[in-house]
Amino acid sequence: MRRLVRESRLEPSHLVLPLFVCSGEGVRREIRSMPGHCQLSLDELVRECETVHALGIGAVILFGIPDKKDDLASEAYAEHGIVQRAVRAVKCAVPQLLVITDVCNCEYTSHGHCGKIVDGDVDNDATLAWLAESALSHARAGADMVAPSDMMDGRVGAIRHSLDAHGFQKTPILSYAAKFASVFYGPFREAAESTPQFGDRRSYQMDPSNGREAMHEMELDLEEGADILMVKPAMPYLDLIRQARDRFPVPIGAYQVSGEFSMIVAAAQNGWLDLDRAMMESLTSIRRAGGDIILTYFAKDAARALG
Ligand code: PBG
Repeated sequence: MRRLVRESRLEPSHLVLPLFVCSGEGVRREIRSMPGHCQLSLDELVRECETVHALGIGAVILFGIPDKKDDLASEAYAEHGIVQRAVRAVKCAVPQLLVITDVCNCEYTSHGHCGKIVDGDVDNDATLAWLAESALSHARAGADMVAPSDMMDGRVGAIRHSLDAHGFQKTPILSYAAKFASVFYGPFREAAESTPQFGDRRSYQMDPSNGREAMHEMELDLEEGADILMVKPAMPYLDLIRQARDRFPVPIGAYQVSGEFSMIVAAAQNGWLDLDRAMMESLTSIRRAGGDIILTYFAKDAARALG
């Protein structure tokens, strides 16, 4: 009876697994703050992607951990940067798996900020060129979709323009349109080695209090050419996922971020929560709120549970 009248369904194809790629061979470096997740070298990444594909998961989103960081985030847009090489390797070994790339600079800058620093602060407009160049290099490597997560104003337009001008009219943009300055990114910053060395990200990420502003940000990204709009984090912002779903015609993404994952896992490790039920309830609530696509570190476990 419950199955007959169920309103929200969760399928492996709705899920996207974030993966962290680093250099080397045979490397599976555990991420302490995110149990079960590792930084993977290219060969290990390919093996992981084969598993992900076999589980019917919708896509992976790749984050790069470069060997060298600098002031100019050079590796973010290098033709043979770590993510660019990863995309080529995965698309060659598992061509049927959809590969999304995260487009941002914070993993690549020595200072850990998402953009170019001018006079002690991130310079929005100067950063757009880096982002457009990164997205283009990902598309050239074979990425199926690019996902800017930096929160600079105007970046969706800049990326769309650069992709179109170089023959990638068909590469869609998944925009982290409403991304909040959230404490829940803590574990990710350990995973991606991207903690800002000074200040914080509040000059470009949004104030958790502001729902109307989130809708405005999403509207702007849609006008600039975003194909999918995302809210991030997910669980503390279910109201905004619902509003976005009701308001915009495009697919709505929701990112269940590292802190949301790690706090559930930590509680389960303490014996305070049942891991599988907490995982499924959290993912189902995001679907019920209107999330069409869910980026989650639970993707593999959830896909297995869904059979
Ligand atoms: C890069 C980026 C971040 C996350 C995704 N892309 C970190 C940040 O803004 O600090 C966080 C993802 C997570 O916590 O799982 N800007």
